[in-house]
Amino acid sequence: MTSQLFTPFSLRSVTLPNRIVVSPMCQNSAVDGNATDWHAMHLGTLAMSGAGMLIVEATGVELAGRISAGCLALGSDENEAALAMVLKKVHQYSRMPLAIQLGHAGRKASSQVPWLGGHSLSPEAGGWPTVAPSAVPHKEGDQVPQSLDTAGIARITSAFVSAAQRADRTGFDAVELHMAHGYLMHQFLTPLANQRTDEYGGSLENRMRLPLEIFAAVRAVWPADKPLGVRLSATDWVAGGWDIEQSVIFSQALKRLGCDWIDTSSGAQLPQQQMPMAPGFQVPFAERIRRETNVPTMAVGMITEPQQAEDIIAKGQADMVAIARGFLWNPRWPWHAAAVLGAQVDAPSQYHRCLPAGVHRLFG
Ligand SMILES: Cc1cc2nc3c(=O)[nH]c(=O)nc-3n(C[C@H](O)[C@H](O)[C@H](O)COP(=O)(O)O)c2cc1C
Repeated sequence: MTSQLFTPFSLRSVTLPNRIVVSPMCQNSAVDGNATDWHAMHLGTLAMSGAGMLIVEATGVELAGRISAGCLALGSDENEAALAMVLKKVHQYSRMPLAIQLGHAGRKASSQVPWLGGHSLSPEAGGWPTVAPSAVPHKEGDQVPQSLDTAGIARITSAFVSAAQRADRTGFDAVELHMAHGYLMHQFLTPLANQRTDEYGGSLENRMRLPLEIFAAVRAVWPADKPLGVRLSATDWVAGGWDIEQSVIFSQALKRLGCDWIDTSSGAQLPQQQMPMAPGFQVPFAERIRRETNVPTMAVGMITEPQQAEDIIAKGQADMVAIARGFLWNPRWPWHAAAVLGAQVDAPSQYHRCLPAGVHRLFG
């Protein structure tokens, strides 16, 4: 039987040759938000993987929106030129559709890089001031963010718009807005971080307001033939927080604004989360959002085996699967999955002689 994982999938004018997506992965290797040779190597390797699409790491729409000082940004001509240089190299050798994840870290900005602990850095310790819906730190001892006023909200909305315009000029095929993992948009969505009393806080409608305004503003400038998706944390895994019911309502609102996919992650808003990590544990969220909203979904999280990924697509639980750590472990994961599932992948001609005995017709 034909593998469903290896069937094409169209998002507006972009056709993914298969349903496997390289999940966004921060590299903490940028300088002043500028991509470096590391990005050319890292993304170049993944662009040879045969995946259907690659999503570049969380990229701050302004320097203050970076998670760490090593995160990419797309807020200046210099940031744009550095990323354009990387894309030029990648595009020279790969036809893989490239997306970029645009975000703002809010109160989780100004963090140390993960391999040095990932903790919140005060401006005195080499970080920078942070902003959030409310002046509530991510956890005790972290920097207290400044609550965004109307002018701050307008500045961040226009930073998303101009970063999307830069992403278009840079040559990206798609954008994913980062509304997950406890970053700024997620901070607005969850009542556990958003304690505002104006039109951006309180009711679900008010908490969704800024993320929806930003989505609409980006959609208005992002070319009509290019897809725009969203990554969500479907639940905070904390009682009284953001949950799957609110995610379904939010996804329906995003769909009305033209959202092309929901990348369904979870958690990372609060340290007290109770996350039941297990293979495919977030797949039911992707399945429910897909079923109840008809928006295509991407399932992500502990999807490591070809048959597991195949089953998710074949059973209609999601339209795409995103894989992160599996790609670092095995940058040619799709080749191996194609060999197991009797399918074909796109691979550079220079590598076609690699096939071991017994594997035939792997490369399309
Ligand atoms: C090194 C690394 C960096 C990550 N950076 C990002 C990121 O930039 N944006 C994001 O939404 N998720 C990020 N994640 C989360 C992954 O995209 C993914 O959702 C998570 O690792 C679960 O998938 P997996 O089990 O296939 O690794 C990162 C994960 C890893 C391991």
